[in-house]
Amino acid sequence: MTRPLSFYIHIPYCLKRCGYCDFNTYTPGELKAGSDIAQVSNGYIDLLIAESKVARSEIDSNSPIPTIFFGGGTPTLMEPADLGRVLNSLESDFGFAEDIEITIEANPDTVSKAKLAALVAAGINRVSFGMQSAAPHVLAVLDRTHSPENVTKATNWAHEVGFEQISVDLIYGTPSESISDWEQTIDSALELPINHISAYALIVESGTKLAAQVKRGEILIPDDDQTADKYLLADEKFSKAGLNWYELSNWAKGGGECRHNIAYWKGENWWGLGPGAHSHIDGKRFWNVKHPNAYRERIAGNISPIMESEILTDIQKESERVMLEIRLKYGISKSSLSAESISNLTSYVAGGQISQDLWSAGRVALTLSGRLMADRIVREILL
Ligand SMILES: C[S@@+](CC[C@H](N)C(=O)[O-])C[C@H]1O[C@@H](n2cnc3c(N)ncnc32)[C@H](O)[C@@H]1O
Ligand code: SF4
Repeated sequence: MTRPLSFYIHIPYCLKRCGYCDFNTYTPGELKAGSDIAQVSNGYIDLLIAESKVARSEIDSNSPIPTIFFGGGTPTLMEPADLGRVLNSLESDFGFAEDIEITIEANPDTVSKAKLAALVAAGINRVSFGMQSAAPHVLAVLDRTHSPENVTKATNWAHEVGFEQISVDLIYGTPSESISDWEQTIDSALELPINHISAYALIVESGTKLAAQVKRGEILIPDDDQTADKYLLADEKFSKAGLNWYELSNWAKGGGECRHNIAYWKGENWWGLGPGAHSHIDGKRFWNVKHPNAYRERIAGNISPIMESEILTDIQKESERVMLEIRLKYGISKSSLSAESISNLTSYVAGGQISQDLWSAGRVALTLSGRLMADRIVREILL
C-alpha cells in the first residue's frame, strides 16, 4: 500500500442520548458493566491500542499518518492522558506526518479549560464542538444538555489554550426553528473564535426519540423550501465572514478545511478503530462489531473485531466517487465521465446549476443553486 493511512478512532460513550441521534453510542445506563465512564476510559483505550497493533501488522505502508479523528459518541469523556496513550502508540508504530491534523469532537458540556489544555498537551490540534443551535428552545427540541453560553465558554477556552483549528457543528431545519432563530445561530457562531463550520440539515433517523415524536404528530418537520432558504442564508453569511464553502455542508477560512474529512471524500485509505468503526483500504471496506462489550470480548480473546468486509466492484467505486466528489468545491473532472453523463449535464450548465467557468476548465462543479439539487445531478451522472 503506497497511499497514506488516516485513523478514525471511535469513542462510543455519551452521558445522555440526544433525541435525534442514532450514532453508535451508549450511555452509562445502557452499559451494564462499569457505569462510570471515567473508569471505562483506561480499559477502553487499551483495546484501541490492541486493535491498532493489528492494523500495524496488516498494513504494508511506511507513510506517516496524515490525519487522525477522534469521533463519537463523546470523545471528550475520555481522560486526555488516555487519548495521549493511543496517539503515542500510533506515532511509534506508524510515524506522524510533520503537519499531522488530529481532531477531537467535543460536546460543550464535557470540557473545562484544564481538560482542553490537556488535550493540546496530548498532541490534539483541532477541536470540533457540537453547538447545533444558539436558540434554547431549539436545543430543547434537539434534547441537548448544553446551553448556548457553554459553547461560547468552551470555544474561548479552546482558543486560549492554543487550539490551532476550532470548528462548530450546527443543525438547521429543527422543528420549531424559525428563520430568525437560525439567523441568530449563524450570527452567534460567527462571533466565536473559530475557523470552520459544519452545518447539517436535521435528518429524522428512524428509531430515534425524535422520529417517534414526529410519528405521533407531536412535532412538525419544516418544509423543504424553508430548509433550502436556511442553507442559502448560511452560505451568504458564512461567505461574507470569510468562511468559504469547500464541501456541501462545510465552510472554512484561512486553510482551515478538515483534511481528515477530505480524505474520506476523496476515497483515501483509513482505518477505523473501535466498535462499529468502518475502514477503507484500497477498495476493500470492513467494519467492526457494533457493541462495545462484543468489541471488548473479541479483542480480549485475540479475535479480530472485524464483523464483515466487502470488496467494492468498479460500479460501486464509481458511484461512491461521483457522490462524494460532486460535494466538493472543484467537483469532478469531466474527463473521468462518460460522453452520455456529460451530455446529461449540459442543461444544468445552461441552467446555472453547474459552474460555466469550471466546466470550460474541464470540471463539473456545483454552483450555489446546484448545491441545492446535488442528489439530482448525481443521478444524471450515474444514469
Ligand atoms: C458525534 S456528533 C458530535 C460530537 C458530540 N457528540 C456532540 O454531539 O456534541 C457529530 C455531529 O453529527 C451531527 N448529527 C448527528 N445526528 C444528526 C442528525 N440526525 N441530523 C443532522 N445532524 C446530525 C451533529 O451536528 C453532531 O454535532
Ligand atoms: S452527544 Fe453527540 S453523539 Fe452523543 S447522543 Fe448527542 S449528538 Fe449523538
